[in-house]
Amino acid sequence: MRRTLRKLSSSRSAATSGACGYLRPACRRSTSVDTRVSAAPAAAYSELTELDVQHFTTVVGGSNVITDEAALEHYNTDWMRKYRGKSRLALRPGSTTEVSRILAHCNERRLPIVPQGGNTGLVGGSVPVDDEVVLSLGRMNRVLAMDEHAGNLVCEAGCVLETLQEYVWKRGYTMPLDLGAKGSCQIGGNIATNAGGLRFLRYGSLHGSVLGLEVVLADGTVLDNLTALRKDNTGYDLKQLFIGSEGTLGVVTGCAIALPRAPTSVQLAFLGLSSFDAVLACFGAAKRDLGEVLSAVEFLDAESYELVNRHLGGRPPPLAPGSRHYMLLELSGSRAEHDQAKLSGFLEHVMAEGLVADGTIAQDQAQSQGIWRVREGITSALGKEGAVYKYDVSIPLAELYTLCEVMRARLEAHGALVTGFGHLGDGNLHLNIYTPGRFNKDPAVLAAIEPFVYEWIAERRGSISAEHGLGVMKPAFLRMSKSESMIELMRGIKGLLDPKGILNPYKVLPPLSHS
Ligand code: FAD
Ligand code: MLT
Ligand code: ZN
Repeated sequence: MRRTLRKLSSSRSAATSGACGYLRPACRRSTSVDTRVSAAPAAAYSELTELDVQHFTTVVGGSNVITDEAALEHYNTDWMRKYRGKSRLALRPGSTTEVSRILAHCNERRLPIVPQGGNTGLVGGSVPVDDEVVLSLGRMNRVLAMDEHAGNLVCEAGCVLETLQEYVWKRGYTMPLDLGAKGSCQIGGNIATNAGGLRFLRYGSLHGSVLGLEVVLADGTVLDNLTALRKDNTGYDLKQLFIGSEGTLGVVTGCAIALPRAPTSVQLAFLGLSSFDAVLACFGAAKRDLGEVLSAVEFLDAESYELVNRHLGGRPPPLAPGSRHYMLLELSGSRAEHDQAKLSGFLEHVMAEGLVADGTIAQDQAQSQGIWRVREGITSALGKEGAVYKYDVSIPLAELYTLCEVMRARLEAHGALVTGFGHLGDGNLHLNIYTPGRFNKDPAVLAAIEPFVYEWIAERRGSISAEHGLGVMKPAFLRMSKSESMIELMRGIKGLLDPKGILNPYKVLPPLSHS
């Protein structure tokens, strides 16, 4: 071990240990979030000691106990490099029993702990805020069973989404979700965030696709609900509580997922349009004319397209120069000729009507991948441009892009630019504000965005987090999307399942208000 951990000390208060007299996280992060009183219980956490590390070593083995500072960097830093924790210990369990023993010890000793999957989350939920232990699920990556008759898969939580996709595709099925981070994100992380992604329009939410879960509770109790039954109305559907709970209620260790059949025909069109009104009209026409085979409807604005072109190279298909917006329409079916004819006919129709300025249909897999690369590459391209202020919102469709225009006007004076893209079919906008060439966060830019952006969304009864969750970025704004009574009930559930507040503290639930 690189350095000696502190001896077991008297307990420290989670709410008062910072130099500024408030919570440490609030002192460290330059956000406008009021974290004066934490969602973590007032009760104190303990300091990690040498004895704790020795105990964990007996549970997971020395090679799965990480204490080296350089090696910990990976576990302490999020995908965007925006959030950085100070954990001195990461554990890599290989089984549910090991997870259970780790949590039982943490609970007994009041050691806070952060479940971590692929660490691709975009709201800072997967990394410690302070020096919480990191519980990395990556070693739990076995497929446990696949029922090819019923169409379901049972696997451990640490399986990487893309690996599962390849596994089930070979057997004639597809995963019910897909996202740009598929090469790294894990199914347990997907479930913990209730990830949406590119095929939500077709296959729906994980609240529907997850058939069963195995979850380890804060005190180490293993909740075995790992059945793959399609129908089971025996009491409360407890697994739903953990889907989207971002590691604050339990650690997902296994799951059973319903699998759609793999489509044998996939068609993809890339369209250029001159206005967002045209985008909405085209979406309406697509639902009307292509509804039964539509599997994705994504959009991006010209700014996003330019960013990808500039930073990721490749040659996305050149479309009409006047295009201000782009759409991806994907059809998944079983009769290629029929689907191709439908898509070509649709394209002719919307172009003749003047809705679409220009369009192309991918002729092979390489072209299809090239088009998806444009859409999926925006997040990485943005990161290369400068500091990014990321918002992931649901708003009624008619005003989806209005938010980008409002923010563009508001931020012009700050030298900040705005892009909009997202899952049009789900009413989900990814609003991204960025400062070209300036990689440090600018408090003035942040102050121009928040709380204005959340208030604007709340006025329209939208959601301040459509799919990325709340993490550490948004708890203080949960009130913009949920009523006080709902938040109180959430607190009650958290208190019931994790009375000592050891699971992913400071995440999801807002600070208690001062009254
Ligand atoms: P992590 O980032 O490791 O963790 C996320 C949260 O889940 C944390 O709060 C963590 O504590 C908790 N957690 C992780 N594993 C477990 C577990 N086993 N048990 C309990 N809690 C756990 N998200 C979308 O919804 N749609 C998209 O289209 C999308 N596209 C993306 C594209 C890119 C390029 C990137 C970088 C991210 C994207 N994301 C998207 C966000 C992210 O990939 C998802 O939230 C994903 O589901 C996170 O999975 P993960 O394994 O990386 O989880
Ligand atoms: C996406 O849809 O590309 C993701 O949610 C990532 C992002 O919002 O940047
Ligand atoms: Zn998304």
